[in-house]
Amino acid sequence: MNKITIGVIGAGRIGKIHADNLLRHPHARIAAISDLYAGAELEAWAAERGIGLLAQDSAEIINHPEIDAVFICSSTDTHVPLIKQAAQAGKHIFCEKPISMDIGQTEEALAAVRQAGVKLQVGFNRRFDHNFRRVREHVAGGAIGEPHIIKITSRDPGPPPKEYIERSGGLFMDMAIHDFDMARYVSGSEVVEVYAQGSVLIDPVFAECGDIDTALITLRFANGALGVIDNSRRAVYGYDQRVEVFGSKGSVATANDHPNTAVISTAEGIAYDKPLHFFLERYAQAYVEEAQQFIDSLLSGAPVPVSGEDGLQAERIALAAKLSCKLQRAVKLSELDELRREYAPI
Ligand SMILES: NC(=O)c1ccc[n+]([C@@H]2O[C@H](COP(=O)([O-])OP(=O)(O)OC[C@H]3O[C@@H](n4cnc5c(N)ncnc54)[C@H](O)[C@@H]3O)[C@@H](O)[C@H]2O)c1
Repeated sequence: MNKITIGVIGAGRIGKIHADNLLRHPHARIAAISDLYAGAELEAWAAERGIGLLAQDSAEIINHPEIDAVFICSSTDTHVPLIKQAAQAGKHIFCEKPISMDIGQTEEALAAVRQAGVKLQVGFNRRFDHNFRRVREHVAGGAIGEPHIIKITSRDPGPPPKEYIERSGGLFMDMAIHDFDMARYVSGSEVVEVYAQGSVLIDPVFAECGDIDTALITLRFANGALGVIDNSRRAVYGYDQRVEVFGSKGSVATANDHPNTAVISTAEGIAYDKPLHFFLERYAQAYVEEAQQFIDSLLSGAPVPVSGEDGLQAERIALAAKLSCKLQRAVKLSELDELRREYAPI
């Protein structure tokens, strides 16, 4: 096999990005795409790209005899049933983050994947960002010695609409989940304890939806290192995505990516343009790279670079953060199952 045939489920923001990247991949072809709202606009979009089948029902993708692998890019509440169905049909799976908002359901999906013996990669695209990958390489290569402090800044340029907030699963599960994965990725260690604080400082709509818009999260890692993540749903100066790892022999840190390097210096001051606008711009190349590595691992038989277990671990940290914020105390990952039973659903 030197070409993987793909079916894409969900043709929204992220589904279209993945589809366009896969269409440019020399060892992938898209046989079909499905979306609940497969209207005239989407038909034109698929026809323009030479995608042969546009279906409303994802079963047409999952049962398609030519399809080797599916990209699950539909809304989060559909991921678990689709993973189970695809695994049962023997399809390899790329699934967008998070796998689900309920770690019990995520565990069930992972069990179905194991039983079927198919591959599952989770869409933690930031691992493929050129800056963060370099941080990880320096830490793993020992350049900064033993990691002591991991600092992650993750601030969006503006809040999403109310309809999104209501169904997002909350800041920890929807937004900070990328940062929890980043913390594990750059530190090379597991998070064992979380203490999270949250506030509503940007828009009361977050409180109306039972959510927060600003958070500060401290982490303790199994190797003794400490971490801090700060999140905001609105940074007026643009998408702010930075990481620093400080260790016994030094530190490694990244700056934001900008659309250009022009600097305007005048009597009033020195200025340059805001960072790349949001995730679609900042992580454009990371999306290409994650799809590429998924295809490569299907072709070579090598393990996928981001596993279902990675997806589950990040969800466990997100749940610990949610509980910590609610209980106003530090939460150990080892007490999560007990707390889950006591407070479910939180
Ligand atoms: N990794 C990232 O950077 C990133 C970025 C954005 C979104 N996401 C994740 O991707 C997923 C989709 O997010 P989005 O922003 O593209 O949402 P979206 O609302 O733009 O798109 C989702 C699409 O899925 C379709 N859909 C829903 N149920 C379906 C089903 N059963 N079968 C087929 N299609 C179905 C909807 O009609 C919609 O067009 C979410 O899980 C989200 O968390 C990840």
